[in-house]
Amino acid sequence: MKMTCSTLREAAQKAGLLVGSACCPHLIEQDPEYAAILAREFNCITAENCMKPMYLQPQHGCFEFNAADRLCLFAERHQQKIRGHTLAWHQQMPHWLRDARFDKKEALDILDDHIANVVGHFQGRVFCWDVVNEALATNGRWRTDCPWFKMTGPDYVAAAFRAANAADSDALLFYNDYEMELPCLKSDGCLLMLKRFLKEGVPIHGVGFQYHLGVENRLDFNTCVANLKRFGDLGLQVHLTEIDMGIPVPVTEESRAAQAEEFTNRIRIARASGVVSAMVFWGFTDRHSWVPSFTHGKYDEALLFDRGYKPKPAWQAVMNELCR
Ligand code: G3I
Repeated sequence: MKMTCSTLREAAQKAGLLVGSACCPHLIEQDPEYAAILAREFNCITAENCMKPMYLQPQHGCFEFNAADRLCLFAERHQQKIRGHTLAWHQQMPHWLRDARFDKKEALDILDDHIANVVGHFQGRVFCWDVVNEALATNGRWRTDCPWFKMTGPDYVAAAFRAANAADSDALLFYNDYEMELPCLKSDGCLLMLKRFLKEGVPIHGVGFQYHLGVENRLDFNTCVANLKRFGDLGLQVHLTEIDMGIPVPVTEESRAAQAEEFTNRIRIARASGVVSAMVFWGFTDRHSWVPSFTHGKYDEALLFDRGYKPKPAWQAVMNELCR
């Protein structure tokens, strides 16, 4: 039976799903329209940047929670679940940590201390953490250019999960990565890593698939459904964590329609898998998206609302799929 809903949030709620957006506290505070749409359309938010280590611990031992706390207040005021992002990643590390060379023991102590402080601070507020982000390379082995890896070898990954669990035993702890939509060396490597962690009793509860993919990447429905399922079969929760879909510039009405069609496909994949409980977009308006700057202007219009905050065909496509 088809439901009638007027917002993504309402549709997701009825389907028993979380639909989320990445967001930034300064935009919420400076732009009432941004804040209103974020509150109206989503029942979940992710901190796009403000919970990353360079912002939370800019100096060694000095924690700065103000911006992230303001984001949490907004979410709580609007009954939105908060995904915490992220505790260990090779990017957006503070300079004091990225540029120094601590020995293994010092580095693991710093990691423990960061996670104890951060997860402890947000205990009971952040329901789910992307504990480790992008630890794997394209070949499915460890990413060796990560400062954490350089200091500790692969041990930082399990250590981060253990520290997060010690700080908040109720929080859901996720491994999050990109380029895992299809069976490939990286998603195979991730599956093996997760199996090993589960066997070893590492406290891990979920896996996040980022789903940053341009519109030209038509995903094969059956292959992607099966790929998501094999992760769900481990007993892990599955979230799509950073969905967006850049369109090659110049964008045309045809390419916007193609984007809507591919959003339909991707949301159908998630729903048909039966294992995806949250779908989080990496922002909601083309006014604020990492895509144009990251692609040096080659891609644009990756999100559901246009720069003037009008819902796009992509929004309607997602809405239709959530209402099914
Ligand atoms: O904070 C400075 C600000 O002081 C300065 O005025 C401004 C000028 O450009 O830059 C600001 O820093 C930017 C920061 O975002 C906060 O806005 C950095 O330049 C910019 O590189 C940084 O980009 C973020 C990127 O992660 C960093 O790699 C994007 O906003 C954010 O969307 C992106 O998110 C990542 C996820 O965390 C992990 N998965 C991939 C995803 C996309 O790269």
